[in-house]
Amino acid sequence: MRAAIYKSYGPPDVLQIVDLPKPTPKNNEVLIKLHATTVTSGDARLRAFNLPPGFSQIGRLIFGISRPRNQILGSELSGVIEAVGQGVTKFKPGDEVIAFSDAKMGCYAEFKTFPETGTLAHKPETLSHQQAAAVCFGGTTSLSFLRRANIKSGDRILINGASGSVGTAAIQLAKHFKAEITAVCSSPNHALVQSLGADHMIDYRTTKITELPVQFDIILDCVGSLNTQNTRSILRPSGRLLLIVVSFRDLLAAPFQSIGSSKKVIATPVITKPEDIRFLAELADRGEFTPVIDQTFPLDQIAAAHALVDSGRKKGNVIITF
Ligand SMILES: NC(=O)c1ccc[n+]([C@@H]2O[C@H](COP(=O)([O-])OP(=O)(O)OC[C@H]3O[C@@H](n4cnc5c(N)ncnc54)[C@H](OP(=O)(O)O)[C@@H]3O)[C@@H](O)[C@H]2O)c1
Repeated sequence: MRAAIYKSYGPPDVLQIVDLPKPTPKNNEVLIKLHATTVTSGDARLRAFNLPPGFSQIGRLIFGISRPRNQILGSELSGVIEAVGQGVTKFKPGDEVIAFSDAKMGCYAEFKTFPETGTLAHKPETLSHQQAAAVCFGGTTSLSFLRRANIKSGDRILINGASGSVGTAAIQLAKHFKAEITAVCSSPNHALVQSLGADHMIDYRTTKITELPVQFDIILDCVGSLNTQNTRSILRPSGRLLLIVVSFRDLLAAPFQSIGSSKKVIATPVITKPEDIRFLAELADRGEFTPVIDQTFPLDQIAAAHALVDSGRKKGNVIITF
């Protein structure tokens, strides 16, 4: 099978296309023939080994000290089940599925095995494979943070970095939870975020969001520019600050920053459960969540796809087709 691998950390051209043996599903696994995967900001961070401040040492221990331990990036996919192990009961050959391998990666390949009890769901019928491939990364991240913030109808939410993968998913999920949404991104992307459900749009290049004359119940930062200090006047006394991009020091400090304050800081990522993927697939089938696609590239052009993600300017998701 064809796959994109990287043998060293570095710029997009460290990625190369190679032939690898096709995997065989174990007893409890399905074998998926991929139609599409994505290049996420997480893939680009790992390829370049560009982790948020303070994560470098622990990151090298996890992902490989001098070179990547797992050479195949790619955390989400859409495809068709080609074969199943003998113990598999929930899926059968021919089923269209989406799946999320998260930090275990491995989706830049024509075939991938997955345990049937893993983060796997039937593909939403309403979505193309290209759209479906992009359900999980932005969807699970924003869903887990919004749920832990106990988002509810009428909450005022500020989404910083609203036009990226996490931001475009977060707008649609916050809309599902009936929140009032203020989206922060550059003005060329305002029409996009409004079409997804944003009620108000702000261009961070012309407006200092930390000095806005309004207060929010929830602030979701997908950029890494917000913290407890600079959101003091724009977060309500009982507000929740969701830090998706955070330094290692701020990650450790987050639980303590909530002590003695009615404000809550949430920064830890969570493990995604299969029911989260099914929830997102159901929302997609109801037309409440459609992943935004910026550009689509064939696997051969994966380096160009990474260069686009490296720009930090992508709108929604970048797709790779097989
Ligand atoms: N903690 C976790 O579990 C977790 C999970 C997923 C992702 N992340 C992290 O979350 C971040 C966002 O991920 P993503 O995939 O959504 O990234 P992305 O798709 O690359 O999004 C970047 C977006 O941010 C906007 N932006 C850039 N600078 C900005 C600024 N100063 N103020 C406001 N908006 C700005 C850009 O919009 P304009 O072009 O309009 O400026 C762009 O659309 C990444 O750093 C990623 O590593 C963390």
